[in-house]
Amino acid sequence: MEWNIITLDEVDSTNEYARRIAPTAPEGTVVVAKRQTAGRGRKGRRWASPEGGLWMTVILKPKSGPEHVTKLVFVGALAVLDTLHEYGIRGELKWPNDVLVDGKKIAGILSECRLNHFALLGIGLNVNNEIPDELRESAVSMKEVLGRAIDLEEVLNRVLRNLSRWYGLFRNGRHGEILKAVKGSSAVLGKRVRIIEDGEIIAEGIAVDIDNSGALILKGEENTVRVLYGDVSLRFS
Ligand code: ATP
Ligand code: BTN
Repeated sequence: MEWNIITLDEVDSTNEYARRIAPTAPEGTVVVAKRQTAGRGRKGRRWASPEGGLWMTVILKPKSGPEHVTKLVFVGALAVLDTLHEYGIRGELKWPNDVLVDGKKIAGILSECRLNHFALLGIGLNVNNEIPDELRESAVSMKEVLGRAIDLEEVLNRVLRNLSRWYGLFRNGRHGEILKAVKGSSAVLGKRVRIIEDGEIIAEGIAVDIDNSGALILKGEENTVRVLYGDVSLRFS
């Protein structure tokens, strides 16, 4: 994959910037910003993005159908997991879109798509940035884990190299390999979890599988439910 990197000092959100240029930008355009003034997660939740972190969005133009595009979030998460591994950090995937280290969030992936046009794969990875006080309990950075600052550009290059590999598999329809890796690095399989949507618990049980569509399978007291990837939050019970 050929990457074409656009570097910005400051932007509202790299996903928003990417959305503005995506109609005419070639696949593989990468928007990276030193800081975001309105970085966000799913459902418009705030994503703290001070200088020192890796805040990026990749514009992709996959030819596969809509049933596969939702799985791009896994492609991003696997690229982050491999990158962490290269620094000796063991990360885990908290289905559907977060990467944890020792139970704390080190990265989040935000994938959005305009069907038949483009997909935006936003990756936020805490590298050398400060974690805001209110997130200290739930978030961590690579610098904190390693006890030293690391070269941000090197992290970017590693993420892109890993993304080339996983996106290559995705483009070749090798979704089985992607799902296998996702399951292998899952922080949720075998655990009791709750699924929350709009503040309400919509499902509860043991996470037993992630199916071919990327949905999480929960075994409850009475039945087994399939939770589609969407705007749901997962909590460990
Ligand atoms: P939760 O993290 O509460 O399970 P979620 O995964 O459902 O929520 P997302 O929209 O995926 O929510 O992520 C946004 C949340 O991530 C924010 O509400 C905030 O708690 C947290 N967050 C914001 N900035 C950062 C950051 N730089 N690093 C780690 N976590 C962050
Ligand atoms: C989440 O956990 O909900 C996903 C967080 C995604 C954050 C990244 S940072 C780069 C890109 N730009 C954004 O505004 N969000 C994503």
